Amino acid sequence: MTIYDNKLLPIGVFDSGVGGLTVLKAIREALPKENLIYLGDTARLPYGTKSPASIARYATQATAKLLEHEIKMLVIACNTASAVALDTLRDQVHPIPVLGVIEPGATAAIAARPGGAHLVLATEATVRLGAYSKAILLRDRGARVKEKACELMVSLAEEGWTDGAIAESIVRRYLAEAQADGFALDSVILGCTHFPLLRDTIAGVAGDGVTVVDSAVTTAAVVREVLSSGGGLCDSQQPGHLHLLATDGAARFARVGGQFLGETLTAEDVHLVDL
Ligand code: DGL
Repeated sequence: MTIYDNKLLPIGVFDSGVGGLTVLKAIREALPKENLIYLGDTARLPYGTKSPASIARYATQATAKLLEHEIKMLVIACNTASAVALDTLRDQVHPIPVLGVIEPGATAAIAARPGGAHLVLATEATVRLGAYSKAILLRDRGARVKEKACELMVSLAEEGWTDGAIAESIVRRYLAEAQADGFALDSVILGCTHFPLLRDTIAGVAGDGVTVVDSAVTTAAVVREVLSSGGGLCDSQQPGHLHLLATDGAARFARVGGQFLGETLTAEDVHLVDL
């Protein structure tokens, strides 16, 4: 018996809301035959303003729900939950492999701008734990890192207001605050899985010469690497099936999540679950 006896089992992915769909989309593009199950804990979003104890409890419960459905790998598509609960979740699902998004994000930033000055846009909880600073400085001692909590940007993404004057002025204010002490950026790291939705707006405000780093593609590449090196890639010839779960608001999840995934979803595509 190995953990990959049934390669058809889905990869479980969770986030506090629709943001993690940015990671799911990248996994789907990299591994189109994989079955996927996604849980958005929309009833308790945002995680980023909660205490570490609450975030760890929510993440543990979301993981338990995914385990009920049987998964062959867990992807924590939430920086906040990755920062707070990666080790706890590894213990919870052992021997199933668990991947968070912070290490892939840090690796992508260093590859893009070695020795660079990185501004991490993230939630309050992620910033409080300094998870990106630790992950980057461990791998690139010459780097400089500043982390900035941008809670309003989570709301913008959940609302689908990702461009236009309101989104731009909120992004502009956060970036101005982060640079008020003269911090000159080489990269902006999207340290929250909701923020790739605001990528164009952030890139426009940050200006030419600043690299915008999104961990989704790097995370998907690591998912592929972990499954492939363990002999766990799905061997089906069919396109993978996507199962969507949310803890509240199926219609809203479908509307905004559909925009994230670039396809039309209806409330019937989203199954409400209780944790
Ligand atoms: N998408 C989550 C993250 O990557 C956070 C959003 C929230 O605060 O719930 O950190």
